[in-house]
Amino acid sequence: MSTDKRPLIAGNWKMNGTGAALAEISRLRNLVADSGAARADILICPPATLLHRASETASGSAIAVGGQDCHAAASGAHTGDISAQMLTDAGATHVIVGHSERRTDHGETSADVRAKADVALGAGLIPVICVGETEAEREAGSANRVVADQFASSLPDYGDGTEIIIAYEPVWAIGTGKTPTIADIADMHAHIRQLLVERFGEAGAAARILYGGSVKPSNAEEILSVPNVDGALVGGASLKADDFFAIVAAS
Ligand code: PGA
Repeated sequence: MSTDKRPLIAGNWKMNGTGAALAEISRLRNLVADSGAARADILICPPATLLHRASETASGSAIAVGGQDCHAAASGAHTGDISAQMLTDAGATHVIVGHSERRTDHGETSADVRAKADVALGAGLIPVICVGETEAEREAGSANRVVADQFASSLPDYGDGTEIIIAYEPVWAIGTGKTPTIADIADMHAHIRQLLVERFGEAGAAARILYGGSVKPSNAEEILSVPNVDGALVGGASLKADDFFAIVAAS
């Protein structure tokens, strides 16, 4: 790792996994234990239906569990939704907010994401706030501006920046096998670092910025060695403990 921060390797299972998938958490637990102390913090964000069982499976290990989304309200008449406090109650310590699949599939705006991040912090969760440009926006040369706009309007009003994590996920790299060049990742992470420092000072310098989008065992070491890349948010390659652990081991 290029960073002096302890990296975070986070897995986002998305809408994958039933009870049988808990065996992957047990296996990951064993892999981590066998390797001695992992150099990275490890987070698994399973579907909400597995969260409580996942937290029990991971209990007493170095693996934390988190939600993939929460509602912006603390409670109320929101059929099918899950509050931040419910995630905490189920054993979560983190929650992903503003993932591009939520922004696209559910029309979530940055204002929605900010409200979710606020309620997450209020419930004692660390929000992993996702930002990232589309392919068209990158080709148009507006990636930095898009990410700066998302940053300005998705970050919580609540808190001083010590309890947030940013995930830079170029939309076109998610689940496609495509990744930006190492130089492009370095430029964007430096840009986000500057935004964090401008907004939060020292806390912004200390905040973790994860890279996400087609991270896998074969590219993890190179990506994780980029300055200001303080970990990874991993989708497809987080579903199998061996692949995910290879990414942890590359950090
Ligand atoms: P991927 O997904 O690793 O499958 O590209 C990353 C993400 O969506 O967080």
